[in-house]
Amino acid sequence: MTKVAVDLGTTATGEPAEMDLEELLSTRLLVQGNSGSGKSHLFRRVLEQSAGWVQQAIIDPEGDFVSFSERFGHVVVEADRTPSELGRIAARIRQHRASVVLNLEGLDAEVQMSCAAAFLNGLFDADRHYWFPMLIAVDEAQIFAPSMAGEVADEARRISLGAMTNLMCRGRKRGLAGMIATQRLAKLAKNVAAEASNFLMGRTFLDIDMARAADLLGLDRRQAERFRDLEPGHFVALGPALSRRPIPIRIGPVETAGRSGRPVLMALPEASPEAMADLIFTAGADEPDTLPAPVRREPLPTRELLERVAANRAGAAPAPQRLEEEAEPDPEAEAERQAVVDAIFADLMADPEAAFRPVQMLYQDFVTHCRLKRVGDGGLDMAGFRRRLALARAGVGAAAEDENWMEVVRRSEELPEDMQGVYLLLAKAARDAAPCPSDEVLARAYGSHSPSRGRFLLTYMAERGYIAAETDFRGNRVVSIAGSDWRTGAGTSGKRTPGTTPRMRRA
Ligand SMILES: Nc1ncnc2c1ncn2[C@@H]1O[C@H](COP(=O)(O)OP(=O)(O)OP(=O)(O)O)[C@@H](O)[C@H]1O
Ligand SMILES: [Mg+2]
Repeated sequence: MTKVAVDLGTTATGEPAEMDLEELLSTRLLVQGNSGSGKSHLFRRVLEQSAGWVQQAIIDPEGDFVSFSERFGHVVVEADRTPSELGRIAARIRQHRASVVLNLEGLDAEVQMSCAAAFLNGLFDADRHYWFPMLIAVDEAQIFAPSMAGEVADEARRISLGAMTNLMCRGRKRGLAGMIATQRLAKLAKNVAAEASNFLMGRTFLDIDMARAADLLGLDRRQAERFRDLEPGHFVALGPALSRRPIPIRIGPVETAGRSGRPVLMALPEASPEAMADLIFTAGADEPDTLPAPVRREPLPTRELLERVAANRAGAAPAPQRLEEEAEPDPEAEAERQAVVDAIFADLMADPEAAFRPVQMLYQDFVTHCRLKRVGDGGLDMAGFRRRLALARAGVGAAAEDENWMEVVRRSEELPEDMQGVYLLLAKAARDAAPCPSDEVLARAYGSHSPSRGRFLLTYMAERGYIAAETDFRGNRVVSIAGSDWRTGAGTSGKRTPGTTPRMRRA
C-alpha cells in the first residue's frame, strides 16, 4: 500500500517535508505558535494538500476558509441553524461524505462554542455505518477547549469542552481525526492537547507555553528554547506521522487566500482637519442607514401560521395541519372549520382582560370552545396558539402578504415566544411611522400591567440588536427596527411624570 504524503514544505536541508496522512488520521495533530507564527497558513497548507484525499470539516472561527468552497467544493455551513438542525446536518455530512466549512465568523465566543459543540457532537454521534475517516480542523482551539473558566458561561464551556474531548480522545474509532491549533498551549485544556501524538511547534515566547511544549515533545527546557527564535512559517515537527525526531521545517506556499494578512504600514491620508471632520461626522453615500440585521438563531414556523391566516381570509383553502386522521381533507369543510376556529379566537380576544390572562388559561378556554364546536383543538397546539396570540396582541392579524413584514415576522421568531408580540407591535408602529407605543401598551402586549415590564422588554430587545430605542431631546422615544428602515414616530414612553417636563422645552 502506498502511503499518502501531505507535502508540508521543506526541511532545513531542503528536502520535502511530508506528513503521512493515514498515520495522521489515527494519531492527530497539535499546532502551537504565537500570533503571526503561521498556524493558519500551515492549516491551509495541510487542508489544501489533503483535500483530494480525505473528507474534511473545518471549524472556522474567522470565516477564513470559506474560499475552500470555490477551490475544493467544500460546502459552507452557516451558523443560522438551531442546535438540533446542526446535529442533523452533521449526521448527513458523514453519510454523504461531504467536506465542509463551519463558518462561525462574527459570533460571540459563547455562541461559537455552542455551535461548534452541536456540530462536533453530530459528527461524533453519526450512525456507525458512516464512520468514514474524516479530518476535523479546529483553528483557535483554545476557544473551544479552554483550560480555565473564563468570561463565558460554565454551561457553554462544559458542552464545548465535552465535544472537543470526544473529538480528540474518543474520535479515532469513529473515523474522526482532530487537527487543532492554538496560540497558547497554556490556554488549551490539557486533556485535549495530550491526545495529539503529532506536533508542529512554531514561535513561542512565553515560558509557560514553552514548558508545556517541552513536556509534550519530551524535550528538556534548554532544547525548547529554540522555539523562541523560530521565524514565521517555521515549525519544529515531531510525531509518528511526521518525524521520529524533532526536525525544523518550513511550510510551503498556499493556493487559496484567507482574509488575515500581516499588517503593513500605509501612508496616512492627507486631509485638512476640517475635511476630516466633515468625513467622520456625515454619513457617506455608501453607508446603510439601517441597523444591521441581528444574527439569526431560531427559525420557527410563525410565518406558516400567518400565511395560513392570510390565505384563509382571502378565501383560499388553508394548508391542512394536524389532520392525519382524515385521509383526504375536503377544502370546503376545512375552510368552514377554520372560520369556526377564527371566530372562537376573535371572541376570546374580545374580552378586554384577555391580554392579561396567562396563556395557558387562554389556551384551555380556546380548546374547550373548540371541542364544544367539534373542531378538535382548532389545529393549534400550545406553541401555535401562543404565536397566534402574540400576533393578535400586537394587532397585526393578516398583514402577511408583504415581504418586508414577513421578514420582520421571521426575525420575531428568534425572540422568546412571549416577547414576539411586543416586537411585532413595535414593528407595526415603525412600519406605519406611528408614534412609539408607551410602556403600558408594550407591557399589555406582553400580558402584564406593569409599565416597568415594558421598559425591560425594550432594553432586552435593544441589547440583542433587534431594535434601537432612542430618546429625543424632548424625552420622547423613537424605535427603529433592525434590518429595515422602519422607524416609529416620537412617542411618550409614559415614564415622565407631570412636573418633570424636560427643561429644553422653553417657550
Ligand atoms: N510558511 C509561510 N510562508 C509564507 N507566508 C507565511 C507563512 N506562514 C505564515 N505566513 C504569513 O504570515 C502571516 C501570519 O500567518 P498566520 O495568519 O498563519 O498566523 P497565525 O499563527 O495563524 O496567527 P494568529 O494566531 O494571530 O491567527 C500571514 O500573512 C501569512 O500569510
Ligand atoms: Mg491564525
